Amino acid sequence: MALDAAVASGLAAIAAAGDLEELKVVKSAHTGERSPLALANRAIGALPGPQKAAAGKAVGPRRGQLSAAIAARTEELRAAEEDRMLDQERVDLTLPIGRRQRGGRHPIESIQERIADFFLGLGWEIAEGPEVEAEWFNFDALNFKPDHPARQMQDTFYLAGDKNLVLRTHTSPVQARTLLEHGVPLYVAVPGKVFRTDALDATHTPVFHQVEGLAVDRGLTMANLVGTLDAFARAMFGPEARTRLRPSYFPFTEPSAEVDCRCMMCGGKGCRTCKGTGWLEILGSGMVHPNVLRMGGYDPEKVTGFAFGMGVDRLTMLKYGVDDLRLFFENDLRFLMQF
Ligand code: PHE
Repeated sequence: MALDAAVASGLAAIAAAGDLEELKVVKSAHTGERSPLALANRAIGALPGPQKAAAGKAVGPRRGQLSAAIAARTEELRAAEEDRMLDQERVDLTLPIGRRQRGGRHPIESIQERIADFFLGLGWEIAEGPEVEAEWFNFDALNFKPDHPARQMQDTFYLAGDKNLVLRTHTSPVQARTLLEHGVPLYVAVPGKVFRTDALDATHTPVFHQVEGLAVDRGLTMANLVGTLDAFARAMFGPEARTRLRPSYFPFTEPSAEVDCRCMMCGGKGCRTCKGTGWLEILGSGMVHPNVLRMGGYDPEKVTGFAFGMGVDRLTMLKYGVDDLRLFFENDLRFLMQF
Protein backbone atom coordinates (compact mmCIF):
# COMPACT_ATOMS: atom_id res chain seq x y z
CA MET A 1 0.00 0.00 0.00
CA ALA A 2 1.33 3.41 -1.02
CA LEU A 3 0.76 4.94 2.45
CA ASP A 4 2.78 2.21 4.16
CA ALA A 5 5.57 2.72 1.67
CA ALA A 6 5.50 6.46 2.42
CA VAL A 7 5.72 5.78 6.16
CA ALA A 8 8.50 3.23 5.72
CA SER A 9 10.60 5.52 3.55
CA GLY A 10 9.90 8.41 5.97
CA LEU A 11 10.97 6.36 8.98
CA ALA A 12 14.10 5.18 7.16
CA ALA A 13 15.02 8.77 6.21
CA ILE A 14 14.42 10.00 9.77
CA ALA A 15 16.63 7.26 11.18
CA ALA A 16 19.31 8.04 8.60
CA ALA A 17 19.40 11.81 9.34
CA GLY A 18 22.81 12.37 10.89
CA ASP A 19 22.22 15.81 12.37
CA LEU A 20 19.54 18.40 12.97
CA GLU A 21 20.16 20.07 9.61
CA GLU A 22 19.61 16.84 7.72
CA LEU A 23 16.55 16.07 9.82
CA LYS A 24 15.05 19.40 8.84
CA VAL A 25 15.28 18.46 5.16
CA VAL A 26 13.82 15.00 5.85
CA LYS A 27 11.00 16.56 7.82
CA SER A 28 9.91 18.85 5.02
CA ALA A 29 10.18 16.05 2.42
CA HIS A 30 8.09 13.55 4.41
CA THR A 31 5.66 15.71 6.36
CA GLY A 32 5.76 18.99 4.44
CA GLU A 33 2.95 20.30 2.23
CA ARG A 34 4.12 18.37 -0.83
CA SER A 35 4.86 15.10 0.98
CA PRO A 36 2.81 11.98 -0.04
CA LEU A 37 1.03 11.85 3.30
CA ALA A 38 0.07 15.54 3.19
CA LEU A 39 -1.23 15.09 -0.35
CA ALA A 40 -3.21 12.01 0.74
CA ASN A 41 -4.62 14.01 3.63
CA ARG A 42 -5.70 16.81 1.37
CA ALA A 43 -7.29 14.30 -1.06
CA ILE A 44 -9.64 13.11 1.71
CA GLY A 45 -11.73 16.22 1.28
CA ALA A 46 -12.57 15.26 -2.30
CA LEU A 47 -13.64 11.69 -1.44
CA PRO A 48 -17.31 10.75 -1.32
CA GLY A 49 -18.74 11.02 2.19
CA PRO A 50 -18.74 7.38 3.30
CA GLN A 51 -15.07 6.87 2.34
CA LYS A 52 -13.88 9.92 4.28
CA ALA A 53 -13.82 8.29 7.69
CA ALA A 54 -11.90 5.24 6.54
CA ALA A 55 -9.37 7.36 4.66
CA GLY A 56 -8.95 9.63 7.69
CA LYS A 57 -8.24 6.60 9.86
CA ALA A 58 -5.66 5.39 7.34
CA VAL A 59 -3.83 8.73 6.95
CA GLY A 60 -4.06 10.38 10.40
CA PRO A 61 -2.20 7.75 12.49
CA ARG A 62 0.48 7.41 9.84
CA ARG A 63 1.14 11.15 9.90
CA GLY A 64 1.20 10.94 13.67
CA GLN A 65 3.70 8.10 13.47
CA LEU A 66 6.08 10.20 11.35
CA SER A 67 5.71 13.28 13.58
CA ALA A 68 6.48 11.23 16.66
CA ALA A 69 9.50 9.67 14.97
CA ILE A 70 10.78 13.14 14.01
CA ALA A 71 10.29 14.44 17.55
CA ALA A 72 12.15 11.44 18.99
CA ARG A 73 14.98 11.76 16.47
CA THR A 74 15.23 15.48 17.16
CA GLU A 75 15.74 14.76 20.84
CA GLU A 76 18.33 12.09 20.06
CA LEU A 77 20.27 14.34 17.73
CA ARG A 78 20.11 17.29 20.12
CA ALA A 79 21.50 15.15 22.93
CA ALA A 80 24.22 13.83 20.65
CA GLU A 81 25.08 17.37 19.59
CA GLU A 82 25.32 18.42 23.21
CA ASP A 83 27.57 15.49 24.06
CA ARG A 84 29.78 16.38 21.13
CA MET A 85 30.00 19.99 22.27
CA LEU A 86 30.78 19.02 25.84
CA ASP A 87 33.43 16.68 24.58
CA GLN A 88 35.07 18.78 21.88
CA GLU A 89 34.58 22.28 23.22
CA ARG A 90 35.80 21.53 26.71
CA VAL A 91 37.95 24.36 28.12
CA ASP A 92 41.30 23.01 29.19
CA LEU A 93 42.13 25.09 32.23
CA THR A 94 45.65 23.73 32.30
CA LEU A 95 46.59 25.15 28.89
CA PRO A 96 49.17 27.92 29.10
CA ILE A 97 47.79 31.30 28.09
CA GLY A 98 49.44 33.98 26.00
CA ARG A 99 50.17 36.60 28.64
CA ARG A 100 49.64 40.16 27.58
CA GLN A 101 51.75 42.78 29.29
CA ARG A 102 49.62 44.87 31.59
CA GLY A 103 50.11 48.39 32.87
CA GLY A 104 50.86 48.95 36.54
CA ARG A 105 50.96 51.61 39.19
CA HIS A 106 53.96 53.87 39.19
CA PRO A 107 56.11 53.08 42.25
CA ILE A 108 55.94 56.67 43.52
CA GLU A 109 52.18 56.67 43.17
CA SER A 110 51.82 53.40 45.06
CA ILE A 111 54.11 54.52 47.89
CA GLN A 112 52.19 57.79 48.15
CA GLU A 113 49.01 55.78 48.42
CA ARG A 114 50.53 53.46 51.05
CA ILE A 115 51.52 56.47 53.14
CA ALA A 116 48.03 57.94 52.87
CA ASP A 117 46.58 54.50 53.76
CA PHE A 118 48.64 54.39 56.94
CA PHE A 119 47.10 57.65 58.14
CA LEU A 120 43.63 56.57 57.04
CA GLY A 121 44.21 53.54 59.26
CA LEU A 122 44.82 55.89 62.19
CA GLY A 123 41.44 57.46 61.51
CA TRP A 124 42.79 60.54 59.77
CA GLU A 125 41.08 62.16 56.82
CA ILE A 126 42.67 62.64 53.40
CA ALA A 127 42.59 66.15 51.96
CA GLU A 128 43.83 67.65 48.71
CA GLY A 129 44.54 71.15 47.49
CA PRO A 130 45.31 72.93 44.23
CA GLU A 131 48.71 72.68 42.57
CA VAL A 132 48.39 76.25 41.31
CA GLU A 133 48.13 78.05 44.63
CA ALA A 134 47.69 81.57 45.89
CA GLU A 135 50.98 82.93 47.09
CA TRP A 136 49.08 83.85 50.25
CA PHE A 137 48.29 80.20 51.12
CA ASN A 138 51.72 78.96 50.08
CA PHE A 139 53.58 81.53 52.19
CA ASP A 140 51.70 84.30 54.08
CA ALA A 141 49.19 82.06 55.83
CA LEU A 142 52.10 79.90 56.92
CA ASN A 143 53.92 82.73 58.67
CA PHE A 144 56.53 83.32 55.95
CA LYS A 145 57.52 87.00 56.26
CA PRO A 146 57.40 89.05 53.01
CA ASP A 147 61.18 88.95 52.62
CA HIS A 148 61.58 85.21 53.33
CA PRO A 149 64.18 83.79 50.92
CA ALA A 150 61.95 80.83 49.94
CA ARG A 151 59.68 83.29 48.11
CA GLN A 152 62.48 84.28 45.77
CA MET A 153 62.11 83.51 42.10
CA GLN A 154 64.97 81.02 42.23
CA ASP A 155 62.93 78.59 44.36
CA THR A 156 59.37 79.28 43.38
CA PHE A 157 57.60 79.03 40.05
CA TYR A 158 55.47 82.17 39.80
CA LEU A 159 52.74 82.10 37.19
CA ALA A 160 53.48 84.43 34.30
CA GLY A 161 51.30 87.53 34.34
CA ASP A 162 50.03 86.94 37.86
CA LYS A 163 52.31 87.78 40.73
CA ASN A 164 49.90 86.28 43.25
CA LEU A 165 49.79 82.72 41.90
CA VAL A 166 52.54 80.12 42.32
CA LEU A 167 53.00 76.42 41.71
CA ARG A 168 52.87 75.31 45.33
CA THR A 169 56.34 74.65 46.69
CA HIS A 170 55.05 72.26 49.36
CA THR A 171 51.78 70.64 50.49
CA SER A 172 51.70 72.88 53.59
CA PRO A 173 49.26 75.42 52.03
CA VAL A 174 46.65 72.67 52.46
CA GLN A 175 47.32 73.00 56.21
CA ALA A 176 46.16 76.59 55.98
CA ARG A 177 43.16 75.65 53.85
CA THR A 178 41.95 72.88 56.17
CA LEU A 179 42.55 75.02 59.27
CA LEU A 180 40.19 77.59 57.78
CA GLU A 181 37.57 75.00 56.82
CA HIS A 182 37.52 72.53 59.73
CA GLY A 183 37.03 72.75 63.44
CA VAL A 184 38.94 70.70 66.01
CA PRO A 185 39.67 67.87 66.36
CA LEU A 186 41.43 67.92 63.02
CA TYR A 187 43.55 65.06 61.65
CA VAL A 188 44.38 65.18 57.94
CA ALA A 189 46.94 63.72 55.57
CA VAL A 190 47.53 65.49 52.27
CA PRO A 191 49.22 63.70 49.36
CA GLY A 192 50.18 65.82 46.38
CA LYS A 193 52.63 67.14 43.78
CA VAL A 194 54.84 70.11 44.60
CA PHE A 195 57.16 72.23 42.46
CA ARG A 196 60.50 73.96 42.90
CA THR A 197 62.91 75.42 40.40
CA ASP A 198 65.54 72.77 41.16
CA ALA A 199 67.78 71.59 38.36
CA LEU A 200 67.31 67.92 37.53
CA ASP A 201 69.91 65.66 39.12
CA ALA A 202 70.12 62.32 40.95
CA THR A 203 68.25 63.67 43.99
CA HIS A 204 66.25 66.64 42.64
CA THR A 205 63.41 67.07 40.18
CA PRO A 206 61.44 70.28 39.56
CA VAL A 207 58.25 68.38 40.39
CA PHE A 208 58.12 65.95 43.28
CA HIS A 209 55.66 64.48 45.76
CA GLN A 210 54.87 65.08 49.40
CA VAL A 211 52.48 63.83 52.02
CA GLU A 212 51.62 66.46 54.57
CA GLY A 213 50.20 65.64 57.98
CA LEU A 214 48.33 68.01 60.29
CA ALA A 215 46.77 67.29 63.66
CA VAL A 216 45.09 69.97 65.76
CA ASP A 217 43.35 69.09 69.00
CA ARG A 218 43.27 69.92 72.68
CA GLY A 219 46.43 68.92 74.50
CA LEU A 220 48.59 67.64 71.63
CA THR A 221 52.31 67.69 72.42
CA MET A 222 55.58 66.86 70.73
CA ALA A 223 55.17 63.34 72.19
CA ASN A 224 52.14 62.79 69.92
CA LEU A 225 54.22 63.89 66.94
CA VAL A 226 57.05 61.50 67.84
CA GLY A 227 54.70 58.58 68.52
CA THR A 228 52.84 59.07 65.25
CA LEU A 229 56.00 59.31 63.15
CA ASP A 230 57.61 56.33 64.92
CA ALA A 231 54.56 54.22 64.10
CA PHE A 232 54.71 55.50 60.54
CA ALA A 233 58.39 54.59 60.12
CA ARG A 234 57.77 51.06 61.39
CA ALA A 235 54.77 50.62 59.09
CA MET A 236 56.88 51.80 56.16
CA PHE A 237 60.23 50.19 56.81
CA GLY A 238 59.43 47.33 59.20
CA PRO A 239 59.58 46.76 62.97
CA GLU A 240 63.33 47.44 63.07
CA ALA A 241 62.89 51.05 61.94
CA ARG A 242 64.07 53.74 64.40
CA THR A 243 63.65 57.50 64.22
CA ARG A 244 65.38 60.50 65.76
CA LEU A 245 64.62 64.20 65.81
CA ARG A 246 67.02 67.04 65.06
CA PRO A 247 66.16 70.67 65.81
CA SER A 248 65.32 72.61 62.67
CA TYR A 249 63.46 75.68 61.50
CA PHE A 250 60.26 76.21 59.52
CA PRO A 251 58.32 79.48 59.67
CA PHE A 252 55.05 77.62 60.33
CA THR A 253 56.17 75.32 63.16
CA GLU A 254 57.72 76.06 66.54
CA PRO A 255 59.60 74.14 67.72
CA SER A 256 60.59 72.48 64.43
CA ALA A 257 62.39 69.22 63.88
CA GLU A 258 63.79 67.22 61.06
CA VAL A 259 63.11 63.52 61.45
CA ASP A 260 65.73 60.97 60.50
CA CYS A 261 65.17 57.26 60.05
CA ARG A 262 67.95 54.80 60.88
CA CYS A 263 69.52 53.90 57.55
CA MET A 264 67.74 50.84 56.15
CA MET A 265 70.59 50.10 53.76
CA CYS A 266 73.18 49.45 56.46
CA GLY A 267 71.04 49.18 59.59
CA GLY A 268 72.81 52.21 61.04
CA LYS A 269 76.41 51.09 60.62
CA GLY A 270 77.15 53.76 58.04
CA CYS A 271 77.21 53.35 54.27
CA ARG A 272 77.20 55.29 51.01
CA THR A 273 73.45 56.01 51.11
CA CYS A 274 73.61 57.57 54.59
CA LYS A 275 77.06 59.06 53.91
CA GLY A 276 78.47 57.16 56.86
CA THR A 277 76.13 58.73 59.44
CA GLY A 278 73.78 55.76 59.87
CA TRP A 279 70.75 58.08 59.58
CA LEU A 280 68.60 59.37 56.71
CA GLU A 281 66.44 62.45 56.78
CA ILE A 282 62.87 61.58 55.80
CA LEU A 283 60.73 64.58 56.73
CA GLY A 284 60.30 68.01 58.28
CA SER A 285 57.96 68.53 61.21
CA GLY A 286 57.07 70.56 64.25
CA MET A 287 54.37 71.97 66.51
CA VAL A 288 52.00 74.23 64.56
CA HIS A 289 53.11 77.86 65.05
CA PRO A 290 50.69 79.97 67.16
CA ASN A 291 50.49 82.50 64.29
CA VAL A 292 49.25 79.76 61.96
CA LEU A 293 46.65 78.60 64.48
CA ARG A 294 45.49 82.21 64.88
CA MET A 295 45.33 82.62 61.10
CA GLY A 296 42.92 79.63 61.07
CA GLY A 297 40.80 81.19 63.78
CA TYR A 298 41.99 79.00 66.66
CA ASP A 299 43.12 80.12 70.09
CA PRO A 300 46.68 78.80 70.62
CA GLU A 301 46.01 78.89 74.37
CA LYS A 302 43.24 76.30 73.92
CA VAL A 303 44.42 74.00 71.12
CA THR A 304 47.79 72.83 69.87
CA GLY A 305 48.84 70.93 66.80
CA PHE A 306 51.65 69.12 65.11
CA ALA A 307 52.48 68.92 61.42
CA PHE A 308 54.94 67.19 59.17
CA GLY A 309 55.77 66.97 55.48
CA MET A 310 57.55 64.03 53.93
CA GLY A 311 59.14 63.59 50.54
CA VAL A 312 57.51 60.63 48.81
CA ASP A 313 60.11 60.37 46.06
CA ARG A 314 62.89 60.13 48.60
CA LEU A 315 61.00 57.54 50.67
CA THR A 316 60.41 55.50 47.51
CA MET A 317 64.14 55.61 46.70
CA LEU A 318 64.98 54.45 50.22
CA LYS A 319 62.30 51.77 50.24
CA TYR A 320 63.53 50.20 47.01
CA GLY A 321 67.22 51.09 47.19
CA VAL A 322 67.11 53.24 44.04
CA ASP A 323 69.96 55.76 43.97
CA ASP A 324 68.95 57.98 41.06
CA LEU A 325 65.64 59.83 41.16
CA ARG A 326 65.65 60.42 37.41
CA LEU A 327 64.99 56.69 36.82
CA PHE A 328 61.46 57.19 38.13
CA PHE A 329 60.65 59.77 35.48
CA GLU A 330 62.31 58.32 32.38
CA ASN A 331 59.57 55.68 32.18
CA ASP A 332 61.87 52.96 30.94
CA LEU A 333 59.68 49.85 31.24
CA ARG A 334 62.67 47.68 32.13
CA PHE A 335 63.01 49.81 35.26
CA LEU A 336 59.32 50.28 36.08
CA MET A 337 58.45 46.61 35.65
CA GLN A 338 60.59 45.70 38.65
CA PHE A 339 58.03 47.11 41.06
N1 PHE B 1 56.66 72.03 54.10
C1 PHE B 1 57.96 71.64 54.58
C2 PHE B 1 58.87 71.39 53.40
O1 PHE B 1 58.40 71.26 52.30
C3 PHE B 1 57.89 70.41 55.43
C4 PHE B 1 57.12 70.58 56.69
C5 PHE B 1 55.77 70.33 56.74
C6 PHE B 1 57.75 71.01 57.86
C7 PHE B 1 55.06 70.48 57.92
C8 PHE B 1 57.07 71.14 59.03
C9 PHE B 1 55.72 70.88 59.06
O2 PHE B 1 60.08 71.30 53.54
